[in-house]
Formats: sequence, structure tokens, C-alpha cells
Amino acid sequence: MTTVAEHYENHLASVYVWMVGGFDAATSRGESEINAVCPNPSNGLTAVDLGAGFGMHSIPLARRGYSVVAIDSSSKLLEVLQDHIASLSIQTVEDDLLNFQKHLNAKVQLILCMGDTLTHLSEHQSVEQLFSLVAESLSIGGMFVITFRDYASPLVGDSHFIPVRSDNDRILTCFLEYSPDYVTVHDVLHERNGSIWQLRVSSYRKLRLSPEWVSTTLQANGFTVRIEPGLAGMVRVVADKRR
Ligand SMILES: C[S@@+](CC[C@H](N)C(=O)[O-])C[C@H]1O[C@@H](n2cnc3c(N)ncnc32)[C@H](O)[C@@H]1O
Repeated sequence: MTTVAEHYENHLASVYVWMVGGFDAATSRGESEINAVCPNPSNGLTAVDLGAGFGMHSIPLARRGYSVVAIDSSSKLLEVLQDHIASLSIQTVEDDLLNFQKHLNAKVQLILCMGDTLTHLSEHQSVEQLFSLVAESLSIGGMFVITFRDYASPLVGDSHFIPVRSDNDRILTCFLEYSPDYVTVHDVLHERNGSIWQLRVSSYRKLRLSPEWVSTTLQANGFTVRIEPGLAGMVRVVADKRR
């Protein structure tokens, strides 16, 4: 079993942008998510994107006037983001997202943790720790937005196999194996090399978080919580800091 950081470094990061359908298509999906949760332009307010990846949400946020701190443990994905920053106000930070406070010098208005990043944390206690740090770091009236996959109810039978993406030269399939607190994700990648297909497999763990548990834990940290459908079957949680 690899760590999340190793999984991205050695397996997923090099095919990640392909996996999500290309940079432009993914960033425009990110843009519509940002429009749904914070439609008003910002005048230089700071937003923090936890597990920013290649910037699918950081870029749309910066385009609408936010100063974005984009934190991720994958140097490869941050390099992709770096290549697209141009004149946008985005600071890329390679670090564990639980260390995000080290990179801020004041409270902020908006914190995001999108695209199933939350389930990458190693245990429920780390999620509780993150929520408490986020509550400390947001100004009153600030917003925390999360999207994640609900692995709490297991898939059954053949639906454990998920065809993620394929083209003439590459096929990515995901296989999910359930344990009580986490799901082991096996990313099965076939790549064409001339006339043969080469197979690479890497596996890592994701937490099984239910929307109810996430909501209750956020409320215990002083948030008002709204749960709604997110992109591609994910759950979107919009949490407003009320005290
Ligand atoms: C599924 S991707 C989502 C990326 C992006 N938020 C999006 O919506 O496209 C998860 C991202 O979280 C990063 N990540 C996972 N665990 C992390 C951690 N503990 N600290 C920092 N980044 C982490 C990975 O490197 C990866 O870029």
C-alpha cells in the first residue's frame, strides 16, 4: 500500500489532467462550481484551496478577483498550475494541507477543499483537526466549501469496478475494496506501448465519510451547513462560519 503522496507522485499525477478530460474542460467545470457557491466577484479577498491539484478551482477563483493560496502535496500537479498562472494572483505551496495555517498571516474569507480531497486524509481524527483549523482561520461570515464522494454506502457487485477514462492509448479503471472505516482504491492503468499494453497498478486509502458525519462535525465547530449535489456524483457541503 502506498501513501497518498507516493500514489500521486508515482502513478496518478502524470495522467491526472488526461483523467479529468484535459485542463480547459476541467477548469471550466471548476468555474461553474465556483459560480454556484460564490457568484460575486471579490476585490482581492484571500481564498485558500486545500488540495488544489492543477488549479481547477484556484484559477477560476483568481479570475474573479481572489488572491489564492493553492496548497498541495504533489509537486507535479502544482507545476501544471504554475504553468497556467500568468498574471493571476495565485501562490502555490507544496505542503500537507493540514499545515495550511503556516502559510497565512491573517484570517481569510474563503477556504475550499474540493474534488474528493477530504477523503484522502488518513483518519477521521485528521478531518476533525482540519475542521477545527478551518474554523479558527475563517473570519466571521467566511465560507468553507467541500466536495467529496460518499463512500459510506458501499457499491455492490460489478459496480466495484469503475471505468474512469479511456482513449486509443490509455485505459484507467478504478477498483474499490471496502473496509469498515476506509476504502482501498486500486487505480489500474493500461498504457499502449507500440503493439502491447503495459499495466501499472497503484493503491491507496480513502476515508469513508458520510455527509451526516461531515455536517455534524462542522456544526460542532460553529458552522451552519448546507448539503447539495456536487459535480459528477459528489456531495457538496457549503459551511458558513456563524461565530
Ligand atoms: C482528487 S485530487 C483533487 C484536486 C482538486 N482539488 C480538484 O478538484 O481537481 C486530490 C488532491 O489532493 C492532494 N492531496 C491529497 N492529500 C493531501 C494532503 N494531505 N495535503 C496536501 N495535498 C493533498 C493530491 O495531491 C491531489 O492533488
